[in-house]
Formats: sequence, C-alpha cells, structure tokens
Amino acid sequence: MKSPTIFLFFFLISTSSLLLEASNNGGGGSKLEEKEDPHIKRSDFPPGFFFGASTSSYQIEGAYLADAKSLSNWDVFCHSAEGCGGHGENGDIADDHYHRFLKDIEMMHSLGLKAYRFSISWARILPSGRCGEVNPAGIKFYNKIIDNLILKGIEPFVTLFHNEFPQVLEEKHGSWLHPEMKEEFVHFAEICFKSFGDRVKHWITINEPNIFTQFAYELGLFPPSRCSEPVGDCVAGNSDVEPLIVMHNLLLAHGKAAKLYHQHFQPKQGGSIGLVMHCLMNEPLTDSDLDRKAARRALAFNIGWSLDPIIFGEYPKVMREYLGTKLPCFTADEKKFLKNSTDFIGINHYTTAYTKDCSTNSSCPPTANRAIRGFLEMVGERDGVPIGEPTKVKGLTVVPRGMGEIVNYLKIRYHNKPMFITENGYSSPDVHGRGIKELVNDVKRVKFHEAYLASLAKSIREGADVRGYFVWSLMDNYEWLQGYDVKFGLFYVDRRTLTRVPKLSAKWYKNFLKNNSDVIHQ
Ligand SMILES: *[C@@H]1O[C@H](CO)[C@@H](O)[C@H](O)[C@H]1NC(C)=O
Ligand SMILES: *[C@@H]1O[C@H](CO)[C@@H](O)[C@H](O)[C@H]1NC(C)=O
Ligand SMILES: *[C@@H]1O[C@H](CO)[C@@H](O)[C@H](O)[C@H]1NC(C)=O
Repeated sequence: MKSPTIFLFFFLISTSSLLLEASNNGGGGSKLEEKEDPHIKRSDFPPGFFFGASTSSYQIEGAYLADAKSLSNWDVFCHSAEGCGGHGENGDIADDHYHRFLKDIEMMHSLGLKAYRFSISWARILPSGRCGEVNPAGIKFYNKIIDNLILKGIEPFVTLFHNEFPQVLEEKHGSWLHPEMKEEFVHFAEICFKSFGDRVKHWITINEPNIFTQFAYELGLFPPSRCSEPVGDCVAGNSDVEPLIVMHNLLLAHGKAAKLYHQHFQPKQGGSIGLVMHCLMNEPLTDSDLDRKAARRALAFNIGWSLDPIIFGEYPKVMREYLGTKLPCFTADEKKFLKNSTDFIGINHYTTAYTKDCSTNSSCPPTANRAIRGFLEMVGERDGVPIGEPTKVKGLTVVPRGMGEIVNYLKIRYHNKPMFITENGYSSPDVHGRGIKELVNDVKRVKFHEAYLASLAKSIREGADVRGYFVWSLMDNYEWLQGYDVKFGLFYVDRRTLTRVPKLSAKWYKNFLKNNSDVIHQ
C-alpha cells in the first residue's frame, strides 16, 4: 500500500490549450531557459511582494500533550500499532517549536523574511471540539507567535486546517465524512478570527484539500486510513466515492467560514481569506488530441475540483460528465455563499508531470483507470527521458518551467484572482549517511529556488497577479509519512540536539532579500 510507485498518482493536473501549444512548440526554448543561470534578484519582483517561509503545526511544534492540548488525529495515528511511516518517527517532539518559537522567529528575522505561513493546531484551541471550552493556553501560545512576528515586521499568514484536527471529532462524527464537521470547523474559525484577526490579515481555511482527500480517503495513507480495492486494502472505505463526499464537506466548510469572515470580521479587521491548493502542472505525454484533452481534464479533476466551486459556485462540467450523480450537488443557497468565497488562491507548487489518456487504452494501471481520476495516468518520462531531475520525494521532479505554466493557467481560468505561492521547495536526495557538512551545503536547493523564481518572475512580468512566495520550509521537519529523512528546510535541524543550522540556501535567501544579490556567500 505504501509502495513508492503510487506517488506518481498523487499529482494530477493539466494545462490550458494555450499552454499546451507553448510547451509543445517551445520545449526547446524552455529547456534553454532552464540551463541558463537565471540571475534572479529581489528587484525582479514588486516592492510589496511577500517573501517568506512556510511550516505547519504538527510538522514542527512537538509538545503534543502540553498545556491541555488534546490528541489530534495524527497523534493517534502515529501512536497506533501500524505507526505513521518514517521508521516509527512521529511529531511528538518534532522541532520543539512550541518551546523554541522565539528563537525561530529571530531566525526568520535574520533572513529578512517579510512573511511567515504557519498553521494553528485545532486540538490546542478546542481540545474537545465545539461542545467544549476554548483552551486559554492555546490562545496564549499563538498570541505570542503573532505578536513576536509583528514586532519583527513579519506578516503572519495563518492556516486553520493543515491535515490535523482533534481526534475526538473523528470519534464523534467520523470527521469530514459527516456534514457536522463543517459546523465544528466554522466554530474553530470564528474563535481564531475573534482572537487573532485584529493582527492576522491573511487567513487560509484549508491546506491542500485535494491531497488531504486523496491521501486520507482514496489511498488510505493518512488517517483515518480509508480506501478500497484496487487502490488499497484498508479495513474500510470506498476510494471511488468517499473522496467526493469529503471534498464536498471541506468546500462547504471553507464557504461557511469565509462567509462568516466576510460578513462579521473583514469589515472591521480588513484582512482577506483564501484556500491553498496542491497545484501540480501537467503537460500532455504526446501531441495526440487524447493526451491533450487528458492533460486539460487532469487540471479540472485536481484543481478545478476545489477552486471552481469556491469561485464559480459549481464543480467543473467535465467532472459532472464523468462522475454523474456520484459527484454531490450544491443547493442554490450553497452556491450563493460558495461563489467568490476566496479572496486569493494559495498555490503549493513543486513539480510537473506528463499526462496520458486512459479513456481508450486499457494498458493504464487500474488505479488510474477510474472515473474519479478522470481516466488518465501521470508519468515521469517521455521516450525514456525523465521530465526533470529527481528529488528525495518520488514524483517531485525538478521542472522550473512548470511554475510559470501553472500560474498562467490559474490566471486565465480564474480571471487573475490574486495568488500567493504558499509553498515551493526542494527535498535533498541521498540524505542517508550524510554528515551535517554535506547537508548544509545545499547548492541544488539554491539552484531550485532560483530557477523556479525566474519562471515565476516571468509570469508576473506577463501580468499574473502573484503577491507572495513562501519557501517550504523554514527548517527540516516531520514530513508526514516519510518522517525526518525528507529535508526541505532552509535550516538544518540536528535530530539529537534540535539545534538549527543555516544551510547555504538560508544564506542565499538572506543575501537575495537583504542585498538584492544573486551571489552566494559561502
Ligand atoms: C469577489 O470578491 C472580491 C473581493 O474578494 C470583490 O472585489 C469582487 O468584486 C467580487 N467579484 C464578484 C464577481 O462578485
Ligand atoms: C496504449 O498505451 C501503451 C503504453 O503507453 C502504448 O504503447 C500504446 O500505443 C497505447 N495504445 C493505444 C491504442 O493508444
Ligand atoms: C551582503 O553584502 C555584503 C557586501 O557585499 C556582504 O558582506 C554580506 O555578506 C552580504 N550578506 C549576505 C547575507 O550574504
């Protein structure tokens, strides 16, 4: 079930016909662009552009039982007999950010970051869900983080749901399979708006609903570990139906929380609220009409699935065609509050994949050859040539041109709604057996960010309304199923002492932000 080959199915997208032309005809051009040293500078971006770094609560905080926090779904999952992957590692201690946040904020400040994206642990704020009391220690902890960020001139971007919620909500409702979960979420959101909204001006309701539904309810790899054949052999679940129900509840939860914010908080607090999507770029595998259509369909099934409803009020037409009545419907009232319920689009972008049509070819694997996946397969090479250099995470190959392509796609489809790159990062391959000296000399991470930023800068010059860029991640942390071996950080974290050590990439980012320079000072 956890075989690495499955990783390629995680990422499904495509591209507009316009971009298909560009990538097919201009392949040579973009390859050339990637080979050139991009010489990207801070001044290639608008003055008010937010440069920052991202984290999430479970991945860095630790202190999983401190100060009346309840157990989250991930605490329980990692402590179960099966464990949560990553050689029995878990987030019990993680980077101990709970006790080291002041130094971590100082570290961000030293780099010259202007923004920091983090998530609030729901189980710290509402240990028993909406029937219980607010935990004052949880409020206090995030107040300290927010106040200290602002003191250092760092803008907080706050995510409310990043894979993690009080386990009690799983036991009580079956969490996101039940419509009641959205009432729980809206209550949690309201407490956060009330407690922190005087200072937090950028809210993110949900992180990567597409990946969350896929991992938890289709592949069964995230708690509550639900799936069915042929995708996996979970104890319970239905991989063809449950992801659709869960996404429906997530979108309604977003819509209700956003409506509450727009009506009762935004007029006084003046902030904005959005949603973050995992946005993989897709190029057609071949020039055939079928593969071109498959690539377009992949985009609709992966991104349009979430963004169409919260911008246009409806699921993409092509999903309705393929899924019929399996795809839930929105009532007239729901459509009304969903429409235009996101002030910005958060883009987590890492990679690009080739897309192959499966609607007429039974050679596709049964896991891809399904309606919920749009009858298409993602592949990592064309004619034996890999689409990009591999990284530690299978499927996350380095394809810098995809950054500009995905931004241009979203610009066209969603009429240039404001966008933020809320995650973009590189996980070093071959970390096993390497000493700290090698791990902090991360030349390839620097090259990755430079190349992706160059592609982003080009799309901004061409008119895309992108307002910020966040490196995933501030520091090495607990990478879900893959534990601590997957290292995305600008700072290396010693697992024994939890000491943070700046990598070359941290020095590069600092020089980029503070000196407007593209030189790396070793
Ligand atoms: C959507 O909301 C934005 C504010 O986020 C507003 O400026 C815009 O006019 C709205 N668009 C429509 C079509 O209602
Ligand atoms: C089906 O897919 C296989 C593998 O990608 C390919 O070799 C074959 O040509 C395809 N057949 C058709 C009819 O498209
Ligand atoms: C900024 O530039 C100065 C002068 O060239 C240099 O000494 C310093 O190391 C640079 N800062 C960083 C973070 O590289």
